[in-house]
Amino acid sequence: MEKIVALCKRRGFIYPGSEIYGGLTGTWDYGPLGALLKKNIKDEWWKEMVQLRSDVVGVDAAIMMNSTVWQKSGHLEAFTDPLVECKVCHQRFRADKDDEISSHEKIHKQKTEWTAPQKFNLLVKAYLGIIEGAQDEIYLRGEITQGAFVNFENVASSTRVKIPFGIAQIGKAFRNEITPGNFTFRSREFEQMELEFFIKPESTEGNKWFDYWKNQRINWYTSLGIRKENLRFRKHEEKEKAHYAKFAEDIEYNAPFGWSEFEGIHNRGDFDLSAHNLSYVDEDGKKYTPWVIETSGGIDRSLLFFLLDAYSEENGRTILKLHPKLAPIKAAVFPLLANKENLVSEARKIYKTLQKEMMVAWDDRGNIGKRYFAQDEAGTPFCITVDFQSLEDRTVTVRDRDSAKQERIKIENLQEYFQKKLK
Ligand code: GAP
Repeated sequence: MEKIVALCKRRGFIYPGSEIYGGLTGTWDYGPLGALLKKNIKDEWWKEMVQLRSDVVGVDAAIMMNSTVWQKSGHLEAFTDPLVECKVCHQRFRADKDDEISSHEKIHKQKTEWTAPQKFNLLVKAYLGIIEGAQDEIYLRGEITQGAFVNFENVASSTRVKIPFGIAQIGKAFRNEITPGNFTFRSREFEQMELEFFIKPESTEGNKWFDYWKNQRINWYTSLGIRKENLRFRKHEEKEKAHYAKFAEDIEYNAPFGWSEFEGIHNRGDFDLSAHNLSYVDEDGKKYTPWVIETSGGIDRSLLFFLLDAYSEENGRTILKLHPKLAPIKAAVFPLLANKENLVSEARKIYKTLQKEMMVAWDDRGNIGKRYFAQDEAGTPFCITVDFQSLEDRTVTVRDRDSAKQERIKIENLQEYFQKKLK
């Protein structure tokens, strides 16, 4: 973890939020490489979950919602974690996190006593309106989900979707977490990527779609390079299930801090649509309240786990073996020598041409070895070098990040070469 945190800061993936003013606990800022990686994760998810399907449509709902939404959805009452306070130092913890409780107890030499657990609501309050004192108290959304539910009838009537169908969404969520930690893993501001899939209200349908989406989601992570052995499913015990869930399983990742929740798959039954008094009329005029199978993943957690899984050290080099589709920069272009005008101008032309198709970096500092070193740490899958041979036969070397092997490619074929490699 320390190596990943240091790499993220050094290369511009992730910085602490509001750092120059001492930070703000539980918030993180994504730098130039992090913002690109995040965008690539979101684009891949959207392609898989919306673009390639005819039974899913996307929405982008408002973060600020009428407070009634949170009352009806049960979040005002039940979106809570059990909070306990250490009677020795008055630090507060989650009572359900045994590992965090026991590692805190080890800090104190004496026996630690705890207050009785209290329900602590995670919703973040905000105030809206222009007249001081008469402003509306609202809540920043604790899950992006409700934006899909409140638009259920809008979507059903404005598109041609029929049950079974899904509403997909990506966006920010906010939680007043008791103990933010493990870098971005548990933050107070984070992004979610969710599918709410509406089905007939029957157990057999529920089980069928639950299994279907479980497999789709785990396969998506492995298709983007996460090693199978680092993923597993874990069923929620009765006592840990969210207030809306009939049944829930997590996809977990084998993180350095232990197996940890990556994405939740929930059978929410008709909890939400019933709560909002929404229903569906099918083609035969039959009215019913659909059930919902939900897949809810965190973008920040995905980004962290993609980085952890891609991190490797070989012969003193750090290499981020990110899947080429996720890599922030797809290729870097170098002139072999920065002081040879004909090499620089040829390399510039290649850089400008490739820029139209993908994110490309330029580097003419130091020697080639140092430039490879920097791009390996950034996860760039290909490095193109323009050398003296390029001026004679119009070829360049293309170096592969993971094998460090080089091949000579004709300049005129570079675009086609990368189209194939990045597919
Ligand atoms: N709509 C269902 C829902 O929000 P959840 O299990 O509470 O379910 C879903 O959250 C996902 O959101 C988690 O699996 C995780 O990836 C991400 N997530 C939740 N809380 C988070 C936090 N404090 N920091 C970062 N990611 C978080």
